[in-house]
Amino acid sequence: MNASVETVQPSDLRQFAGHFPTGVAVVTTRDLQGKSYGVTINAVTSLSLTPPLLLICLDKCSNTLAAIAESGTFCLHYLEANQSHVSRVFASKSDDKFAEIASRLSEAGNPILDGVLAASECRVTETYPGGDHTIVVGMVERIQMGGGEPLLYHRGGYACLDNRVGARDALTGVARIGVAELVAVTWLPELVASLRRDYPGLTLELDVSLTASLFARLMEGELDAVLIPGGRFDNTNLVASTLGFTRFAWMASPRLELPQGPITPPDLTKHPILSLGEGSYHYGPAEEWLAAHGGSRRRVDVCNSMSVIASLTQAGLGVSLLPPGCFQSEVAEGQLRVLDTRPEMPEVEFSAVHMKRQPSVIPEAVAKAARQASSFQTRSEPTQDASLAA
Ligand SMILES: Cc1cc2nc3c(=O)[nH]c(=O)nc-3n(C[C@H](O)[C@H](O)[C@H](O)COP(=O)(O)O)c2cc1C
Repeated sequence: MNASVETVQPSDLRQFAGHFPTGVAVVTTRDLQGKSYGVTINAVTSLSLTPPLLLICLDKCSNTLAAIAESGTFCLHYLEANQSHVSRVFASKSDDKFAEIASRLSEAGNPILDGVLAASECRVTETYPGGDHTIVVGMVERIQMGGGEPLLYHRGGYACLDNRVGARDALTGVARIGVAELVAVTWLPELVASLRRDYPGLTLELDVSLTASLFARLMEGELDAVLIPGGRFDNTNLVASTLGFTRFAWMASPRLELPQGPITPPDLTKHPILSLGEGSYHYGPAEEWLAAHGGSRRRVDVCNSMSVIASLTQAGLGVSLLPPGCFQSEVAEGQLRVLDTRPEMPEVEFSAVHMKRQPSVIPEAVAKAARQASSFQTRSEPTQDASLAA
């Protein structure tokens, strides 16, 4: 013990609290105008069995707390291991968190989130002051329980249970991993090193291909997990977790005749487009972007390798959509130029995807290692409140 009550700062307490691993919960409600609210919390505990009570602690500044004060009811959800994106959305101060997360309304009028481990609807019976938080006691009126593994929170990061004692040695065999080229040329070495370190009994079979082919092989059961672009996979048999976001931009050789200022799609399509084929994630969005903004393609040459497209672009043979983060030295040396196109291309999310309910834990272990190895950006996280629990 080396700090007294007078010297304990909020940051000390937050750090201290972070040593205690917890699950991750989302509390939802609707105000009297029918607007939905939700907040990520981990300050939650069962309080009493008879009567059935639980308690949650909410920051006095929480918008969701204000809405619960109006509605007198809330739904508490425990998140599943693949729902860290749900936690991030509800930890934000966004005005419309439900636009991104699928939910339905219960009879009591609370939003119920899809795909959670378990959910319970509660009626508020008491509230108590608790420093900068309010303690809300809820009478549990309905409970729903699914299967799956919980999402955990520890020392400011998300985790899941696949580090269980014994898992390391138990994991033997071949991990068949489908890898998008951008992953292959960025953080794949870190992933391979971590899998070798953590699971010495596992050997790897890597397939570097375009997204459509990797996805088809996953669905056929020929791959255990795929690391591909895309953020939404509307298939209830799949588990997808985010690997972060990366920016793509139109690039060209500085020798190519293009305006110096903002460049529009019609400026671009005066030159041949060098593109990954239709089986790539980018083909469709690039096509739509060009068409929506007046760029009818004059000539498109396709190739199934991003690195080859980059060297053809560098040689002045056309313009292409590339991740500038991977070509910083070429840009610095004047071999490639990042074009200032208007509007900007949206950022691309990458995900680790595997089939649900696999007999083997290899897919989950690969997805977890990929999440840790990924160097892609997480979307700018909102500043969390001074919640003791957060
Ligand atoms: C893992 C995690 C746990 C959190 N736990 C709590 C908590 O127990 N109580 C709380 O008030 N805020 C907690 N937060 C912070 C809130 O999610 C955050 O302040 C949110 O923006 C509040 O949203 P609202 O004002 O729309 O209700 C937590 C955040 C994270 C990421």
